[in-house]
Amino acid sequence: MPMSKARAVVLTITAAVIAVSARADDTRQLVTMPAPMVQHMLANMRDHLAAITEIQRALGVAEYQRAADIAEKRIGMSSLESHGAAHMAGFMPQPMQDIGTQMHKAASRFALIAQETGADGNLARAVAALSTVTEQCVACHAAYRAH
Ligand code: HEC
Repeated sequence: MPMSKARAVVLTITAAVIAVSARADDTRQLVTMPAPMVQHMLANMRDHLAAITEIQRALGVAEYQRAADIAEKRIGMSSLESHGAAHMAGFMPQPMQDIGTQMHKAASRFALIAQETGADGNLARAVAALSTVTEQCVACHAAYRAH
């Protein structure tokens, strides 16, 4: 049976109200940056997620040096320049910058630990170190949004 026009209108309004209230419930702080910079940041983010996945895959097949290299180059302190971090940091509130710094440091620490795992086979410690990286992803996403 085709939906009546009135019913369609009510449904549309209900959907709009739900969308608006979802925003009202969103307590994350909006960080305003020029649009191209937001796009650049989101592209970095997608690469971070890809990198974490590749690290997990490398750990899963005991390629510890590979896991270390990905972490250092794509998320660690060595990634700062290629990500244009200094340029973007100016737009971020200080606590957000600090979480970003903690993430880069945690990734570089993980890289060292993954190399040690190559020598001593202590995979549990490497996995625990990786979670200190993703904890920073979680902390920042819980507090801030870009759009
Ligand atoms: C310093 C803050 C910060 C850190 C650290 C951070 N992110 Fe993000 N990320 C953001 C913000 C802000 C957004 C945009 C969220 C929004 O507007 O809803 C985002 C969005 C994303 C997105 C969505 C990209 C898109 O195309 O929409 C992915 C995926 C992501 N982050 C992955 C990660 C991963 C993985 C890590 C950790 C390795 C990480 N992020 C660390 C701030 C951060």
